[in-house]
Amino acid sequence: MTGLKMIGIGRALPSRCVTNDDLSKIVDTNDAWISERTGIRRRYYCADGESTNTLIAAAAREALECARLQPEQIDCVIVATVSSNYASPSVACLLQAELGIRENIPVMDINAACAGFLFGIATAAGLLQICGGRHALVVGGEQLSRLMDMTDRSTCVLFGDGAGAAVFERDESADLCVDLGSRGGMDIQIEGVGRPDPSYIKMNGNAVFRFAVGVIPDCLNAVMDKAGLTMDDIDWVVCHQANARIIDHCAKKMGAPEKFYKNIDRYGNTSAASIPLALYDMYKEGLLKDGQKVLAVGFGAGLTWAGALLNIHMGASE
Ligand code: ACO
Repeated sequence: MTGLKMIGIGRALPSRCVTNDDLSKIVDTNDAWISERTGIRRRYYCADGESTNTLIAAAAREALECARLQPEQIDCVIVATVSSNYASPSVACLLQAELGIRENIPVMDINAACAGFLFGIATAAGLLQICGGRHALVVGGEQLSRLMDMTDRSTCVLFGDGAGAAVFERDESADLCVDLGSRGGMDIQIEGVGRPDPSYIKMNGNAVFRFAVGVIPDCLNAVMDKAGLTMDDIDWVVCHQANARIIDHCAKKMGAPEKFYKNIDRYGNTSAASIPLALYDMYKEGLLKDGQKVLAVGFGAGLTWAGALLNIHMGASE
């Protein structure tokens, strides 16, 4: 499979910032428990007029600008989300209309929860190969705040809203190295999405924690094996930001803790948006440089997991 390089990144956050202290006024919790057990200090919730769709559009515009591409130069659009405004049309199709992305190209949403952004990259690579074209827009965006049971302290403190978008360009010089997997089960459920009645996230946190610390190192090793690389060749590892303790545990197991990036303190768990939000912050902090190799890994409801090797080369080729 022909590879992809990441050439642009963008993000959007809603306007309402919610701290741990704010949540302690709603449920029986406190800043010490949340920050020690999860690493989260604040998250953002959509306000009136903001939604998964508006966040995704704003993030996608910034990613296109960063890549120095016009919407009509995009050949495939994938949006990863579990919190779209409508079951249909897809967020991706509405984004296509809003940005003026051309017709006769593949445009669709995928649901692989927190692994969705990386499933999206693999899907985009396959579609570019099958349908032709050079540039793919892959977006992860969520409004999880509308799916949360604000009386359940074991879940409502964990999640936040946001969107991250990346533009990829086909790269004939490299193969796409990914590892994708899934195991059907009900350890994480989101009920009734798309129905008018309330939809809530329910999660067996302890089971998911055990699953994550097992699958992340396996997935990272599988991608490195496919690429013929070791941790010495990797510049950064970006894990889905679900719990700082999960990331720290895996970082130690992989023997290179300094390469594992964390920004969960700022946004909480934003599901499909979490990996592109991390890539965005790294880029803005000057940590991402052309030629670097980033190993990204996600896991989530499904259960699903995905690892991918990302080659960084910002700005589209002439
Ligand atoms: N504030 C205060 N106390 C709390 C809170 C809270 N917000 N939540 C739970 N507690 C209490 C519990 O009631 C329990 O009290 P008890 O000992 O008196 O019974 C105690 O804290 C410990 O509870 P645990 O559930 O064992 O806490 P744990 O340390 O395992 O942390 C957590 C829970 C944060 C959910 C953790 O298990 C986790 O991060 N799991 C993984 C979640 C994940 O990665 N999800 C990703 C996918 S999400 C998706 O795909 C949409």
